[in-house]
Amino acid sequence: MKTTHAIVLTFTILAPYAISPELLAQEKSVRPGINKSFEKPDVTKFVERFEREGREVYDHREEIIAACDLKSGMIVADVGSGTGLFTRMIAPRVGERGRVYAVDIAKEFVQHVASICKEAGLTNVKGVVCKPDSVELPDDSIDLAFICDAYHHFEFPYKTMRSVHRVLRPGGHVVLVEFHREEGKSSDWILNHLRANQETFVNEIRLAGFEVVDEKGFLKTSYWMRFKKSPRKTNSGHTTDSLADVKKLLADKTAMLIDVREQGEWDAGHLVAAKLLPLSALRRESSDKLPAIVSEIIPRNKIIYCHCRSGGRVLAATPILERLGYDIRPLNVGFSALAAEGFETAK
Ligand SMILES: C[S@@+](CC[C@H](N)C(=O)[O-])C[C@H]1O[C@@H](n2cnc3c(N)ncnc32)[C@H](O)[C@@H]1O
Repeated sequence: MKTTHAIVLTFTILAPYAISPELLAQEKSVRPGINKSFEKPDVTKFVERFEREGREVYDHREEIIAACDLKSGMIVADVGSGTGLFTRMIAPRVGERGRVYAVDIAKEFVQHVASICKEAGLTNVKGVVCKPDSVELPDDSIDLAFICDAYHHFEFPYKTMRSVHRVLRPGGHVVLVEFHREEGKSSDWILNHLRANQETFVNEIRLAGFEVVDEKGFLKTSYWMRFKKSPRKTNSGHTTDSLADVKKLLADKTAMLIDVREQGEWDAGHLVAAKLLPLSALRRESSDKLPAIVSEIIPRNKIIYCHCRSGGRVLAATPILERLGYDIRPLNVGFSALAAEGFETAK
């Protein structure tokens, strides 16, 4: 009890860079206003828009769904389900033993999909009104996240994809159908509407913890890609994320950095962006008390980069924190190297 208290106290005092709920709330949308038309949407109008000949994903809907390899009993989340075009196609294919979650930020769409599926006798569809930064499904609950024409609408793409990562069962997949965006080739509407091209989106999804499995070329103005969860680690166990990625994710508060060195080393110099979580404390604390102590310091919805002096101790800290359910990415560069790479040090 005494030890626990001492650790909590130490971290409270020595962690002046704790991220407050207020700060988290200020995290910025990558594309403010993109979902304006889905606030209180006129559902009839959107049915006409999404479920019409001439929309490429509508015309190729059978191929899009066939490529997903749906099996009876699978649990699928149609993320950004809109008017339910794909939810209604997925439901009979996964059968009574399976389930489709129609997940959308727009309550009106979710209610519409739930009601038309009920009328059609599709009893395995469940509507979920999600948050702009989370799909709001239980952990380890789905086999496939199907995301068609919706990723570019995600205002907090890393957080939404981290939530997808959390809910996807081992061996599960993400299928992404998204518009190509190519300067000089794409229409002005696409160039204005989409914030980035395929390479950028794929890189974002990779950083959220996935790797590409395959890509199919049956669409012209869009691409179809399948991803699976990826450990994103080198043979030694360090993260494959580049320091540029780390800086970017720290800057937009998708990630945080912890320093697993000891108190004396921290006092002699540390990074402004880091919080202290000494390996010795992780090892010392009993397994029943550790989760509560760690959760005071690191939030579960962020990527956690960790560093030590030279990349050794992070490998010992990683399994302890992974067992608690965190996405830990150990850096193979230590404090001095990070400082030399431009990570600000505390005065
Ligand atoms: C262009 S519609 C696509 C609908 C459907 N997937 C289709 O292809 O017909 C994009 C949908 O994504 C939803 N959306 C936007 N941001 C979202 C988020 N963060 N999580 C879940 N759905 C979201 C919108 O409300 C909208 O229904």
